[in-house]
Amino acid sequence: MHSSFIFGFFLFVVSTLAWPTPSLLIPEGGVGTNASAGPPSYTAFSDFDWQSLNLALNQEWIELDLFHHGLAQFSPEEFEAAGLNAQDRYLIQFMAEQEVGHAQLISDMLGPYAAKPCNYTYPFTTVREFVDFCQKLTRWGEAGVYGFLPHLDSRAAAGLLIQSITTEARQQMIFRQFEGLFPMPIWFLPGVPQAFAWTLLSPYLSSCPAENPNIKWQIFPTLNITNNPSAIPYSNSSRAGYDTSPAITQNRTTPLSTSGREVFLSWELPGRLTSYNNSYITSSSAGPPKFAVWISQLNATYTPLENINGTTASTMQPGELIFGPNTAPVVNGTMFVAITDSDLYVTSYNLSEINSHVVAGPAMYQAG
Ligand SMILES: *[C@@H]1O[C@H](CO)[C@@H](O)[C@H](O)[C@H]1NC(C)=O
Ligand SMILES: *[C@@H]1O[C@H](CO)[C@@H](O)[C@H](O)[C@H]1NC(C)=O
Ligand SMILES: *[C@@H]1O[C@H](CO)[C@@H](O)[C@H](O)[C@H]1NC(C)=O
Ligand SMILES: *[C@@H]1O[C@H](CO)[C@@H](O)[C@H](O)[C@H]1NC(C)=O
Ligand SMILES: *[C@@H]1O[C@H](CO)[C@@H](O)[C@H](O)[C@H]1NC(C)=O
Ligand SMILES: *[C@@H]1O[C@H](CO)[C@@H](O)[C@H](O)[C@H]1NC(C)=O
Ligand SMILES: *[C@@H]1O[C@H](CO)[C@@H](O)[C@H](O)[C@H]1NC(C)=O
Ligand SMILES: *[C@@H]1O[C@H](CO)[C@@H](O)[C@H](O)[C@H]1NC(C)=O
Ligand SMILES: *[C@@H]1O[C@H](CO)[C@@H](O)[C@H](O)[C@H]1NC(C)=O
Ligand SMILES: *[C@@H]1O[C@H](CO)[C@@H](O)[C@H](O)[C@H]1NC(C)=O
Repeated sequence: MHSSFIFGFFLFVVSTLAWPTPSLLIPEGGVGTNASAGPPSYTAFSDFDWQSLNLALNQEWIELDLFHHGLAQFSPEEFEAAGLNAQDRYLIQFMAEQEVGHAQLISDMLGPYAAKPCNYTYPFTTVREFVDFCQKLTRWGEAGVYGFLPHLDSRAAAGLLIQSITTEARQQMIFRQFEGLFPMPIWFLPGVPQAFAWTLLSPYLSSCPAENPNIKWQIFPTLNITNNPSAIPYSNSSRAGYDTSPAITQNRTTPLSTSGREVFLSWELPGRLTSYNNSYITSSSAGPPKFAVWISQLNATYTPLENINGTTASTMQPGELIFGPNTAPVVNGTMFVAITDSDLYVTSYNLSEINSHVVAGPAMYQAG
């Protein structure tokens, strides 16, 4: 009786409204939605586009190598000891195959001068360290693209790129699940400027083909969070209060970090040769260090540096809630911390204004 009333009401509404013919059901506005815009061109329209896409391509190439490398470096027994079985290993293998497709997509957009694969250097010696590195690398790969997508001149290219980056977002979450971390403890995924992504990626490229185009984004001095929370347990798989077995989801009885935690930071001065063939140099145009910036969710949150001594300092993990009381903490998950010379107010779309104020970093902070 109830549903027939609703249906009757629906017929009443339909018959009394003068509905436009379907061909006119196109709200005004939008860009590139009709033939007058010409056929879409899935290419870079500017140097900004080209350099952004080529950076993303370098990220896809390392992921392809990294996933294969991890599968080859460790034995099935070592994976089993970390709780990862043959099905899990095939999922990593499939992720590598996804990277083949992502690299082809971006190479096709860039044409003959697109970057080719490099030789890489990796910071892990155990399966858990490998999974943790994958989880961090895919996060900056993802955030690095979100940061520039809305700024690309080529919307057609942006459209295809987001169809690959949403796949990478799923990879990131799966690597978190492989570590027993809560899969997505945040409401929004952060975006970061290209210089942030390149600063994080560049140390792992050891040598690249001579014809690879120079990457024009800045590399900031390295930042080390010397007491970074770690999702990696001791070599045996159990640690009081922490279940680090792979799981779709689980609460940790003890969170990895909490607001008010004292965080120790140490950074380098600019001017060090770095990245492949030592062909880049770290740089900064910032003044003296004053703040740590915490980039997570939709926000860039500053905390003052304390105990500044040369290139070391400490600061406190902030506790802001994203939209105020009863909402999620801004700081959680796998996120970004950098040292700045000011607490310049920036929001999601103008975050790259921060670049000229970065003293060092970012580093990945494992908040949860
Ligand atoms: C076609 O798209 C352009 C913008 O790309 C817009 O200015 C124009 O109004 C659109 N035409 C129609 C008929 O929707
Ligand atoms: C990668 O490393 C191999 C082995 O050291 C070397 O032969 C090759 O030239 C390197 N390739 C590039 C592109 O740097
Ligand atoms: C980097 O070094 C490798 C190995 O020596 C070499 O093959 C490659 O051409 C060099 N690349 C650049 C960009 O100089
Ligand atoms: C960062 O600091 C920790 C603690 O001092 C140290 O073990 C680690 O090697 C440092 N990492 C880098 C990349 O310097
Ligand atoms: C696991 O490692 C912790 C920390 O090193 C140690 O205290 C504990 O005894 C170990 N447990 C087992 C079962 O080996
Ligand atoms: C997980 O944590 C949430 C938030 O603290 C809590 O409401 C929920 O009951 C917990 N669930 C389990 C199964 O522990
Ligand atoms: C992060 O989220 C997890 C899961 O909801 C929660 O248990 C933890 O307390 C949060 N961490 C912080 C720093 O708020
Ligand atoms: C500052 O750092 C230097 C070098 O590491 C150390 O010798 C000195 O004791 C530190 N000063 C303070 C006030 O901690
Ligand atoms: C985080 O960013 C959102 C979107 O810009 C904003 O509405 C919110 O107030 C910010 N929260 C904090 C704690 O700064
Ligand atoms: C960034 O955008 C916000 C508005 O969202 C504005 O208030 C702020 O001044 C801008 N920051 C800079 C450095 O332009």
